[in-house]
Amino acid sequence: MNPTATNEMLSPWPWAVTESNISFDVQVMEQQLKDFSRACYVVNHADHGFGIAQTADIVTEQAANSTDLPVSAFTPALGTESLGDNNFRRVHGVKYAYYAGAMANGISSEELVIALGQAGILCSFGAAGLIPSRVEAAINRIQAALPNGPYMFNLIHSPSEPALERGSVELFLKHKVRTVEASAFLGLTPQIVYYRAAGLSRDAQGKVVVGNKVIAKVSRTEVAEKFMMPAPAKMLQKLVDDGSITAEQMELAQLVPMADDITAEADSGGHTDNRPLVTLLPTILALKEEIQAKYQYDTPIRVGCGGGVGTPDAALATFNMGAAYIVTGSINQACVEAGASDHTRKLLATTEMADVTMAPAADMFEMGVKLQVVKRGTLFPMRANKLYEIYTRYDSIEAIPLDEREKLEKQVFRSSLDEIWAGTVAHFNERDPKQIERAEGNPKRKMALIFRWYLGLSSRWSNSGEVGREMDYQIWAGPALGAFNQWAKGSYLDNYQDRNAVDLAKHLMYGAAYLNRINSLTAQGVKVPAQLLRWKPNQRMA
Ligand SMILES: Cc1cc2nc3c(=O)[nH]c(=O)nc-3n(C[C@H](O)[C@H](O)[C@H](O)COP(=O)(O)O)c2cc1C
Repeated sequence: MNPTATNEMLSPWPWAVTESNISFDVQVMEQQLKDFSRACYVVNHADHGFGIAQTADIVTEQAANSTDLPVSAFTPALGTESLGDNNFRRVHGVKYAYYAGAMANGISSEELVIALGQAGILCSFGAAGLIPSRVEAAINRIQAALPNGPYMFNLIHSPSEPALERGSVELFLKHKVRTVEASAFLGLTPQIVYYRAAGLSRDAQGKVVVGNKVIAKVSRTEVAEKFMMPAPAKMLQKLVDDGSITAEQMELAQLVPMADDITAEADSGGHTDNRPLVTLLPTILALKEEIQAKYQYDTPIRVGCGGGVGTPDAALATFNMGAAYIVTGSINQACVEAGASDHTRKLLATTEMADVTMAPAADMFEMGVKLQVVKRGTLFPMRANKLYEIYTRYDSIEAIPLDEREKLEKQVFRSSLDEIWAGTVAHFNERDPKQIERAEGNPKRKMALIFRWYLGLSSRWSNSGEVGREMDYQIWAGPALGAFNQWAKGSYLDNYQDRNAVDLAKHLMYGAAYLNRINSLTAQGVKVPAQLLRWKPNQRMA
């Protein structure tokens, strides 16, 4: 063996490398490590230190005395396919164990879904908050652009309006939308059970065919459990009785889980329980194992994770904890394809990790539910929190002290509260007159509806770029965005107009695969040069 090798006695691998095949130049080594189609054989040279070759020879008795260097560490030809569950890629027909989560009001726009879909990446259209005709137009456009997928639509639970949820399901069934991202569910509803069961059949071999796939996004174990189990017989029976599904579909629905995939949602942008990913994911994974042991499904449920994933390092950590796939949201809103205004995307590109906070949610304002939003460059969180404080302190608009009321009218509503109420009545009389009936004899409820005017419009202003209302933009984002911006600092990605969702997805996936290689080398005891330790955004991936 070559005397220049420093650890010849300790070589754990049966290979040796010819010195002329070894690179010691950091830039060349970076390219070698990024080339996932080839293995890397690492040597520790006495003079040059860390070096990489892409070919090696088996050490034989005869070769033992050659001048070749022993291999100190090895990483196989493995790239993004080593990350996550292969079944996720196969079942959804995608290239990566990755998807872009829905962002309401079409922020996850047709452009976003189509751009990602064309690159073989799954994205959920942001159907929440949109009227059915708008969602239908999106279905038509997305299906025309992606006749074979991949794409999905968000099916959001509407606690106060089951008809809205039923309408969405009917729309998805009518247009054969084959995958939904079900979210905000507190339990199963007849609507989601209908969607799932209506897609079930048997193939010629008698195997159950799941026609309608469900990815359920949850942040609590009790909700996860419901989606991991088969649909309840009672709910199925009702659907059989009203002719929505067949008796055979009822039978099949009891053999498969309600969801194919469970997305554990940690501390994310928008609605969130702010759970740390490192505590939530293992808990949901353990639950999955329990349920699988009990039900012995032919295809086990997959558990993926989102909420905080905004960098290659976070992506790898999530996969290493056992996630079948990863989910992003916040980072995609800053991309050119997102249905967010220029002003908002520009602001998002400079948002730091501590620039997000919790503020009252429009949809569940009265219940005190909050969501995660940007707090720098907008006064929305402060103003929305003030509205909630006033709502809890007074029983009616009339009970608000005059100076307080005047301040609200001047700074927040820019109109008298009487005028806002008149507009609110007109709005609901068109969409949902019951809301007004319920508020007429209930002054507290009336106050909530008036305040929700601001909470509802402020997110639309952010999307449409309402001029003059910039300081009221309600911009949903989580800490993942700040982590991404920090990682991207100083690169081409600093320019918000240079951010596209496919590029970001590939940076996360290829970056995670790269870091996986680096970690595996480090674990074998070699000292990787500092310049090679990170995946940097120094080149466009798409
Ligand atoms: C602007 C924005 C809007 C969102 N709207 C929805 C939505 O309508 N439905 C939904 O299921 N999730 C929604 N989410 C959550 C995302 O789909 C995704 O699960 C989450 O953002 C992932 O966490 P991250 O923000 O840390 O990346 C939204 C997130 C953001 C940032």
